[in-house]
This record gives sequence, C-alpha cells and structure tokens, in this order.
Amino acid sequence: MTEKASLDSMRATLKQGEEPAASGKIGLPVGLAEDYIHLSNNILALHAGNGIKNIAVSSSAHGEGVTTVAANLAIALARKETSNILLIDGNLRKPSVPQFFGVDRGEGLAECISGDRDLAAMLRKTALPNLQLLTSGNSEKEPSQFFTHARFQTFLNELGSRFDLILFDTPPISLYPETVLLSAMVDGVLLVIQAERLIYEVIRKAKDKVLSHGGTLVGTVLNRRRYYIPNAIYKNL
Ligand SMILES: Nc1ncnc2c1ncn2[C@@H]1O[C@H](COP(=O)(O)OP(=O)(O)OP(=O)(O)O)[C@@H](O)[C@H]1O
Ligand SMILES: [Mg+2]
Repeated sequence: MTEKASLDSMRATLKQGEEPAASGKIGLPVGLAEDYIHLSNNILALHAGNGIKNIAVSSSAHGEGVTTVAANLAIALARKETSNILLIDGNLRKPSVPQFFGVDRGEGLAECISGDRDLAAMLRKTALPNLQLLTSGNSEKEPSQFFTHARFQTFLNELGSRFDLILFDTPPISLYPETVLLSAMVDGVLLVIQAERLIYEVIRKAKDKVLSHGGTLVGTVLNRRRYYIPNAIYKNL
C-alpha cells in the first residue's frame, strides 16, 4: 500500500436531503450545506497536506449520488474563494453535470482529448467566479479510449497548471473500464457509498478495483444517511 493509499481514512457523511439535492442552481442543498462544508474542508486538507490536485468521484453502483456529490462539493470548494476549481463531466455515457448546472452539453472533454479543441475554449463559467465546468462533450468512440489516449496525461498536466483542484464526475468504477483507467491517472478517488443500499462485499470490490489498478483511495462519502434518532445525539455519542 502506498503512503497515499493509507489516506482513505477521510470519511465523510452526507445526510439524506429533504429535497432532491440537484437544483440546477448554484446553491448548496438545504439541510446539507454543513455536510458539504465539512467535506470540502477535508478535501482542502488533503490538497494542502498531500498535494492532491485531481480527484475522481465514483461509486460501486448507479444512482449512489456521484454527480450530486461531485457538483455540490465543487460548489462548496469554490465558495471558499481561495482556489480555482474545475468540475469535469467524465461520465461520457450518461452526462449529468450540464443538467445540474443548467447548461447545454455542447463540446467539452471528448473534443479536448481528441485534439479538436483547446481547453480554454471549452471551459464554461458558472455563477461562482472560481468554479468552471468542462462538459463531457460528444463522441462516438468507446469512453475508455479517452483515458488511454496519448494526449490524456498532457491534458491532466495542463489542467494542473490552470486549476488548484479538479473533480471528475465518473460512472461507477465497478461497472465501467474508463473509470478504472482514470482512477490510476488521477491523484485520488473519492468513493461515494449510498447508505443502507449495497452489501459490504460490493463496496470492497470497488475499493479493490481502485487499488489493484494502481489508484489511490483518498476517502469515502457515506451518502443519504438517515438518522433514526436526532443527529445531535449521534454527535455526542
Ligand atoms: N444526500 C441526498 N439526499 C437526497 N437525495 C439525494 C442525495 N444524494 C443524491 N440524491 C438523489 O439521488 C439521485 C441519484 O443521484 P445522482 O444522479 O447524483 O447519482 P449518480 O451516482 O451520479 O448516478 P449515475 O451513476 O446514474 O450517474 C438524484 O435524484 C439525486 O438528487
Ligand atoms: Mg451521475
């Protein structure tokens, strides 16, 4: 296990939201804002202490909350106004970042990697000055081809010189090879786990997939946790 691999001790918990978390607006979901502030503080600590710059947010199964977490985390980080944040829609199969931010899919990651477009021209502004988006773009190619492309490492280096933190929204690592490939190229993977949904072995398989392909698990987010007794009591246990 590498030194960075031992960092999966970063564990965050996000409550089950009262309202659907995706809003299409720049605002942290009501009732969850405090959770996202804690999560963003943990990420900034990893960035400051371990030089973590690009992170793939992923999961074991569909619908665990990856897009919701990646987008709201990007917003929470950008609200600190100390860093330049980029959120990339790395889910070329089912891109959801455009819908979340109310922008069109247009051109983006796929066109940058294939060399058809410059990154600068593909970046989308948001209502937060230090948060930009890169949509997935469009391509007929198999998604895994983008992360094995010779240009991808150069592209990551270019991102690193422009942004302090880069978050990738990805499809589940247990189901798609492109996320496995990406996990080995970024500095770390943040694994979203929907509370009370999957058996432990399924989640461990996702973790093993990251590690066995040379990736680093930087933390886990337990999403949609329900508190059967008041949250304040859990905090004092
Ligand atoms: N903490 C939460 N509280 C309430 N609803 C949530 C929470 N997190 C996510 N959701 C809802 O769960 C649904 C699935 O979330 P999301 O699209 O983020 O999952 P995903 O892992 O990105 O799915 P996919 O693998 O299909 O891309 C959405 O309707 C979202 O609003
Ligand atoms: Mg998604």
